[in-house]
Amino acid sequence: MDHSFDIVIVGAGGGGLFAALEAIRTNPLATVAVVSKVYPTRSHTSAAQGGVNAALANKDKDDSVELHVFDTVKGSDYLADQDAVDYLCGQAPLVVRELENLGAPFSRFADGTIAQRPFGGTVKDRCCYCADKTGHTILHTLFEQCLRQGVKFFNEFFLLSLEHDDGQCQGVVAMNMRNSSIEAFSAKSVILATGGHAKMYWNRSSNAAGNTGDGQAAALRAGIALKDMEFIQFHPTGLRKSGLLVTEGARGEGGYLLNRHGQRFMSRYAPQKMELGPRDLVARSMETEILEGNAFTSDAGSYLELDLRHLGAEAIKKKLPQIRELCMHFEGIDPIEEPIPVRPTAHYSMGGIDAGMAQTAVRGIYAIGECACVSVHGANRLGGNSLLDILVFGKRAGQEAALEAPQRKARPVSPAAVRKAADEIKSYASHERYERYGTIREEMGRTMADKAGIYRTEAKLRSGVEEIKTLRERFRHIRLFDTGTVYNTNLFQILELKNMLDLALCVTATALERQESRGSHYRNDFPVRDDQSWHKHSLCTLQENGDIRLGTGPVTMGKYSLEARSY
Ligand code: FUM
Repeated sequence: MDHSFDIVIVGAGGGGLFAALEAIRTNPLATVAVVSKVYPTRSHTSAAQGGVNAALANKDKDDSVELHVFDTVKGSDYLADQDAVDYLCGQAPLVVRELENLGAPFSRFADGTIAQRPFGGTVKDRCCYCADKTGHTILHTLFEQCLRQGVKFFNEFFLLSLEHDDGQCQGVVAMNMRNSSIEAFSAKSVILATGGHAKMYWNRSSNAAGNTGDGQAAALRAGIALKDMEFIQFHPTGLRKSGLLVTEGARGEGGYLLNRHGQRFMSRYAPQKMELGPRDLVARSMETEILEGNAFTSDAGSYLELDLRHLGAEAIKKKLPQIRELCMHFEGIDPIEEPIPVRPTAHYSMGGIDAGMAQTAVRGIYAIGECACVSVHGANRLGGNSLLDILVFGKRAGQEAALEAPQRKARPVSPAAVRKAADEIKSYASHERYERYGTIREEMGRTMADKAGIYRTEAKLRSGVEEIKTLRERFRHIRLFDTGTVYNTNLFQILELKNMLDLALCVTATALERQESRGSHYRNDFPVRDDQSWHKHSLCTLQENGDIRLGTGPVTMGKYSLEARSY
């Protein structure tokens, strides 16, 4: 079946939903569809717990957009594009108030204003929150509004390819996951909002199973460059066993990090900010404690403790209810009574589809949120800036697409593109194939965790690149053993693995290339930031033969010049 819309948005997280809502509000005559791999309220935005940054100055009366810009640029280790950061922070108070008006129930101070808590790496307390369910709340609010405005949803459709004709958007090809039919979605504009790719890290990720970089991989194959892929953020506090997120809000509310000697070890690494240093610094400090033998040990691996007990039962129940539930279900402990066992977990991809202010190099194709590199996060994102990113750039892309679409000629997706996708899927079931999904998936995850983790070296990265290349070769023989057509999870996993392998090569190859330490990318063999040689974005494109070509691009500077970064 073929479909045709003015605007197709791929991904139904907060960014995709805000884009859809804004598109239809900007141009009520435009036809807008959202194509999503999961039912919208299951999108990963719901896992963003702690909050969204905006300089509302409800808590610190002297906060300002300017200070938010400064914190973000410094947090990025000066790799963010400052025009994009200016826009992000300038829009923040507007989008948060807009969400409030749309019905998002933010937590409140006693005077009725939106409550704000401290988050890492900032000079003022500006993280607005809904207890520890901020993303969940935003997602539901936006979904309700999209339904109200008549946005059309295609839920449980898997993105297979992104199509353009000589640099002009045509649309996407996607598979209906309920019956495996392959369908074309022609569109004058496509907005990619498919989320991040940190799930490629084996059992050491806070990401949902579906965060497999489908949009990024589709863009790469469509000839669009990926930017700054080496920068993967490890969140300091993942649950020891599952890697699930324990919000930075827990430290914002006053939680302590402790090693097995009972020491608040952050005093050695960030004496001023302590537990509220930026994420790259706190995660690295925790990894150092683990490597130096200062961690607790268990069958589930080494860990440190996050102690909330001194906050008291009432504060934990009121401000961190989800954290308490996660600890009870996934660790069997109650944080009111016991410290939480934590270790760093792969959490966020700063890199993604190269998209200046949301627009890619292909006219009519936009990318927003974690699948994109706009770039507002540079080498290290501040906590609370990811929800902000999806809202600000989702809204912007929706507006632009809605204004632009009527002026653009429709260029339908070609039947050949649908046939190509169908042939590829059929080929996976060939009896000549023998490799199993599970083996390659596990090996890729381990390679990423062991070779491209928090501490990196040339030797580790070089072998990481080789291992991923070998796995990509082996993938050519992967076999689809389940040939059913109804919700074939074996097929979805194979398609996701193909995407992650391409992106894993981009991550390892760019990390090997960047011979310096900046933000989340730490090289033991090049421990210092090298602005002379490396104050630039990295770029990856896919060559015809399947190899990755590496390049670089300039960083847009603004008010803030390069400075040493300390906390
Ligand atoms: O820690 C957290 O609540 C995560 C927030 C974020 O990644 O922005």
